[in-house]
Amino acid sequence: MPLVNSREMFKKAYEGGYAVGAFNVNNMEIIQGIVEGASEEKAPLILQVSAGARKYANHTYLMKLIEAAVETSDLNIVVHLDHGPDFETCKSCIDGGFTSVMIDGSHLPFEENIALTRRVVEYAHDKGVTVEGELGRLAGVEDDIKVSEEDSSYTRPDEVEEFVKRTGVDSLAIAIGTSHGAFKFKGEPKLRFDILEEVGRRLPNFPIVLHGASSVIPEYVEMINKYGGKIEGAQGVPESMLRKAASMAVCKINIDSDLRLAFTAMIRKHFAEHPDHFDPRQYLTDARAALKGMVRHKIVNVLGCNGKG
Ligand code: G3H
Ligand code: 13P
Ligand code: ZN
Repeated sequence: MPLVNSREMFKKAYEGGYAVGAFNVNNMEIIQGIVEGASEEKAPLILQVSAGARKYANHTYLMKLIEAAVETSDLNIVVHLDHGPDFETCKSCIDGGFTSVMIDGSHLPFEENIALTRRVVEYAHDKGVTVEGELGRLAGVEDDIKVSEEDSSYTRPDEVEEFVKRTGVDSLAIAIGTSHGAFKFKGEPKLRFDILEEVGRRLPNFPIVLHGASSVIPEYVEMINKYGGKIEGAQGVPESMLRKAASMAVCKINIDSDLRLAFTAMIRKHFAEHPDHFDPRQYLTDARAALKGMVRHKIVNVLGCNGKG
């Protein structure tokens, strides 16, 4: 199957009341674990690459690995730039074969966000590439930039129609209380479903994106801590809330931290149980298998996109 843009995938997700998983990729084992998991569940799939991932692994390496995934699976796969920081990065990804990009102007004043997003949309649409924009700002860590709780802000529903109309974006990421990383809530988890509902009302049949949507599965945090790690106060978005969002206007749910936790927990466990091992194939086999299990779990129990690929 060829790489596809997100248009048809989101249309089906919106109509079907489910969401597509957008999983962050950084190396071969992560790509393989995700693609094998999605293949077994016959799920539509978005592989997303951050600017940090491109810096770490190199654009061409990641692209070739994703092409191998496309060639060896029957899946419709979108390759998407996560949190594109500027026009040049988006252009470089579009020219380099990505089928979807995010331009993240969420830190900019409204008019500047519109101007930047519009510029990316014009370039992308000309080449059949879809674009995600963002309004509102999530807290947490992405690409070494830490957004504090004070600097984060919920999406204002009264801005979304104008933003979508003037930019021409294909999907919109909104901030309703999720955040990036493994430390999302101090007390009881709360999401502003009223904002999501109002955005959905104002933008009928329009795909909404939820970032910062890992659930921080306690099993893996406990495993990391049991085998020599130290992660305190980690908390994610309850799966029931994500299921609810997926049944509303949310068509794309971003997951990175849960993959990182599963991958790392298994490597720690492997070394604790086999202190004599030093062949990366041994410990990465366990890590890749755990990551695949996590992806299958998300597809079936959170996103509801199994069988929709
Ligand atoms: O939103 C951020 C993603 O988790 C990607 O993280 O920028 O460290 O690759 P990264
Ligand atoms: P998590 O840190 O919750 O996995 O969010 C990832 C994300 O939003 C990537 O854009
Ligand atoms: Zn994000």
